[in-house]
Amino acid sequence: MGNTNYKIQKQNRIDNEGVELRRQPIGVFDSGVGGISVLRECVKIMPNEDFIYYGDSKNAPYGTKPTEVVRELTIAQVKRFLEIPIKGCVIACNSATSAAVRVLREMYPELPLVGIEPALKPASLYKRDPRVLVLATPMTIKEEKFKNLLAKYEDKATIYGLPCPGLMEYVEEGKYDTSEVSNFLEELLAPYRGGVIDAVVLGCTHYPFVKDKISQVLGPGVRVFDGGEGTAREMRRRIDVAGLLTDKTTRGEVIFENSSEDKSKIELCNRLLNMYQ
Ligand code: DGL
Repeated sequence: MGNTNYKIQKQNRIDNEGVELRRQPIGVFDSGVGGISVLRECVKIMPNEDFIYYGDSKNAPYGTKPTEVVRELTIAQVKRFLEIPIKGCVIACNSATSAAVRVLREMYPELPLVGIEPALKPASLYKRDPRVLVLATPMTIKEEKFKNLLAKYEDKATIYGLPCPGLMEYVEEGKYDTSEVSNFLEELLAPYRGGVIDAVVLGCTHYPFVKDKISQVLGPGVRVFDGGEGTAREMRRRIDVAGLLTDKTTRGEVIFENSSEDKSKIELCNRLLNMYQ
């Protein structure tokens, strides 16, 4: 149903308003503010595109919820995006991607849609037989998608998956630069200090905002990998292939929306995006 509607809408827009379609925004979705670590990469490589970022902070965290609940929440938001409409969609949340990306691809086969998954490929291949620690939500670690990813690289690397319930909350509450989060990480990562691992994968989009703190605990010898840049590149490639790159030559706009009634979330979104501009 959604599929047919989308096709008809898209066809009409191409026939009648080809330029308009190229100028539609790209939707970026996360359970909260974490997906801004992916949005910032999108803005870097597609500066003239418009983006609408939706954080579902009211329902966060996703990573400790049942998969079906997260699937429903994610599908509902993609439907709302399509009503705006958008020309492409980034699921900037590893947990939501694990739960919903396969279904969404079936629902909207023509929509340029990109999900994010832990950057296990570059981390497993950057040297011979590295020991790789993957930090992610409990959902990402337990889902089929991650198991398939593990199966692909386990002969190239020794991989440890570590669920980190409680970590995303520090970013979500704007406490990413506090001693509280340092203490949390010291305890969580204690078994992996002192040369036990070669690389760490940030398998949740909230974690890049505490990347320096993770590095401080694990030490400078541990390489850090995060999938934000690869995801942004893939989105650009998909909209390029679909002939949907904007024809504008001026800088695009970023609009933030959030399901939370707490107005400070939007201010936090701006702050996180500007941290890297
Ligand atoms: N940012 C999300 C991810 O990449 C998850 C955080 C959460 O809602 O648990 O997995």
